[in-house]
Amino acid sequence: MKGRADMAMLSEQSEEHPVLRQMNMDDLPAIIEIEHEAFTLPWTEEAFRNELTMNHFARYMVLELNGYIVGYAGMWTIMDEAHVTNIAVREAYRGRKLGQLLLVRMMEWAIELGMIRMTLEVRVTNEAAQNLYRKLGFSGAGVRKAYYSDNNEDALIMWCELPADGESGNGKEA
Ligand SMILES: CC(C)(COP(=O)(O)OP(=O)(O)OC[C@H]1O[C@@H](n2cnc3c(N)ncnc32)[C@H](O)[C@@H]1OP(=O)(O)O)[C@@H](O)C(=O)NCCC(=O)NCCS
Repeated sequence: MKGRADMAMLSEQSEEHPVLRQMNMDDLPAIIEIEHEAFTLPWTEEAFRNELTMNHFARYMVLELNGYIVGYAGMWTIMDEAHVTNIAVREAYRGRKLGQLLLVRMMEWAIELGMIRMTLEVRVTNEAAQNLYRKLGFSGAGVRKAYYSDNNEDALIMWCELPADGESGNGKEA
């Protein structure tokens, strides 16, 4: 019998309609699965539950293909700054511009919410993510030393100025 992931991949080959929507509590088992696949310091389910129920600054989005969650992203919107908390795509679905789609949509959401810039931290060795961020207009603006507790790796701090609502995107179609 095929596993859930195999079945989803098979049906996804015949029809590809990415759907982006806000994350809800029912999504958490899938999110935790992806979180463990994507990060060496994964957030717990409780951490996500708190984000969805207690943190009024938090905004989370999932990306589905044929009803199967293949990625997600989150941010905190504080004053006029959006802080990306996490972004991940299932390993089997990487390299198909889905991470880019997620981040572009997060940037659009931030703009809709009145944010004027976006920031994030990324491991200095995470070239794939850094390339994605640079492609969408982020640039490096400093380092947080030994930010990641598993290996004391530094974090590169990146920022992006967001275009005002209604202006054409900067680098989004790149
Ligand atoms: C980072 C991540 C979300 C990218 O998602 P993805 O769907 O595979 O990326 P995309 O296919 O949308 O790629 C968009 C751009 O990102 C960059 N990129 C993505 N994968 C890359 C790789 N393996 N090597 C180099 N650059 C890469 C490229 O600039 C790419 O644009 P291009 O295809 O025109 O060259 C994904 O690799 C992931 O989930 N990684 C684990 C979690 C993680 O590290 N998150 C970031 C934490 S800060």
